[in-house]
Amino acid sequence: MGLPPEAAHSLSLNALKVLPPPVSKFFDPILETKVFGLSFKTPIGIAAGYDKDAKVPNKLFDIGFGFVEVGTLTPKPQDGNPQPRIFRLKKDNAIINRLGFNNRGFEAAVTSLKSCAKGTRQGVLGINIGANKDSKDPAYDYVLGIEKFAQQADYFTINISSPNTPGLRDLQAKEQLTKLISAVSSALKKTSPAEKPPPLLVKIAPDLDKKQLGDIVDIALRFKVDGLIISNTTITRSDSLLSSEKDETGGLSGQPLFDPSTALLAEAFKLSKGNLTLIGVGGVASAEQAFQKILNGASLVQLYTGLVFEGPGLANEISKGLASLLLE
Ligand code: FNR
Repeated sequence: MGLPPEAAHSLSLNALKVLPPPVSKFFDPILETKVFGLSFKTPIGIAAGYDKDAKVPNKLFDIGFGFVEVGTLTPKPQDGNPQPRIFRLKKDNAIINRLGFNNRGFEAAVTSLKSCAKGTRQGVLGINIGANKDSKDPAYDYVLGIEKFAQQADYFTINISSPNTPGLRDLQAKEQLTKLISAVSSALKKTSPAEKPPPLLVKIAPDLDKKQLGDIVDIALRFKVDGLIISNTTITRSDSLLSSEKDETGGLSGQPLFDPSTALLAEAFKLSKGNLTLIGVGGVASAEQAFQKILNGASLVQLYTGLVFEGPGLANEISKGLASLLLE
């Protein structure tokens, strides 16, 4: 039976906090990746949602991730939706979550991140920001995030694709996205007038049609957004799902997301003609799958659900396998 998923998650964060790294870090120079002015020791990163409150980024570097995306963080702390709100679909190697941005807010994360200061960290730190559920002006919440973390972030992710905050995904629509990106870009410029500000990425949903994706790519290119993260969880449910939990409300991640998120990645690569850096995420649990993301246009790869099913050795295992695949 095992622990309920949310209790297991808290336990894994606490274990990471107190235990020495369970595995030694794999490194091969062939994996070094330079994109948007940052250098990654391996292109494998941990996706947002695992370390929402930036409690253990150093430990995640220790177990072999080249980059760690903390968050999603919102300006004010919030509890999220009532529990249970994470469901393991064991027969499908998948998870459904409807957490709803439970997090301790910006201020607490600023404090946590003091132990992972720029210049001392062992990898690249992304900060993923969102809007509070009760926000009257969501765009302003993102601007606040940029201002708050400009000195700490190696890169920023604007998360407009969580299915668990009502209205959030509407920010992906042309007019709203134009306003949001324009506000965020100018806030970013103001935070670092003398130097190049941290790169800006936008994380999108897999549930977009071609026209919607085309609009997003156009806006990203127009405002010189550095890249897209493709993708967040899906609200669609394929007929092939076997687990009884499949009809729970929320976002589905893991194996069933691999194909649709990779198809969207490939489409974004085609539309952007290589002018946007793409991070491929969705269903990666092996070196072969990470390689597939790269072959379909990703410069970097993230994962979350794979770690839940495969355990803490996964980042190293993928890096090792990827190095061999690249040398073939
Ligand atoms: C997530 N994900 C997520 N994404 C995000 O941008 N902000 C968040 O707060 C969260 N929270 C979250 C919680 C849980 C429990 C899961 C499983 C996922 C989405 C995650 O970053 C990723 O985009 C998807 O899960 C797809 O990747 P995997 O899990 O299939 O590798």
